[in-house]
Amino acid sequence: MNQDAQRRAAAEAAAAIVESGMVVGLGTGSTAAHFIDALIRRVRDENLKITAIPTSLRSDRQARDGGIEVASFATVKQLDLTVDGADQILRGSLHLVKGLGGALLREKIVAAASKKLVVIADRSKLVDRLGGKIPVPVEVVKFGWESTATRIEKLGGIPVRRWPKESDQPFQTDGGNYILDCTFGPLDDPARLERDLSHTIGVVESGLFIGMADMAFVANASGVETLTRKGS
Ligand code: A5P
Repeated sequence: MNQDAQRRAAAEAAAAIVESGMVVGLGTGSTAAHFIDALIRRVRDENLKITAIPTSLRSDRQARDGGIEVASFATVKQLDLTVDGADQILRGSLHLVKGLGGALLREKIVAAASKKLVVIADRSKLVDRLGGKIPVPVEVVKFGWESTATRIEKLGGIPVRRWPKESDQPFQTDGGNYILDCTFGPLDDPARLERDLSHTIGVVESGLFIGMADMAFVANASGVETLTRKGS
């Protein structure tokens, strides 16, 4: 199995645990897109009845186009299950780095309102330490973002405003904010960094998801492994 086939296999394992009547959070990214495709097939072929809350305009469009009923927090208080990808998954605790796809704020809001967060990924995402090779994405309000960046530097990060290649504009989230990709190196205490970032003026949310994921389907070349969160 190549990497994309592994992502699809993990997504299909997660789609198999969805039951009729559930309110389901739909993640964002290439792995989550496979999950949404698998759900669309179950809705079409098995008459699965679900309501979904997507975490991005992309996932919203994919779900609606495929015939999934989409709801919002105007009518939904709690979701039964959210299934989402991740950029890194910490072995054991299942703490996550998310947001390289730019949807971290809606992803965190939807995950926080869910009874269960299930992560889907290929094996390359599973790590023994978060950070290191990838930055921690941090969503910040536009006003005074330079000042927010200075505060993040004081926490030990090197923030770089996300700017898509060949664009004349910085990246903007679905909420109209900027993302600062913050290099901190390998993280000894991701929970503490998450707390520090959440207390930083100008920060909307960080891509550190601490103690939120309950379970992960992680695929490698030979199959899909099911991981459950260990510890608090
Ligand atoms: C989106 O903001 C991210 O949190 C994604 O969940 C993450 O980037 C995973 O995307 P892939 O499944 O495409 O790797």
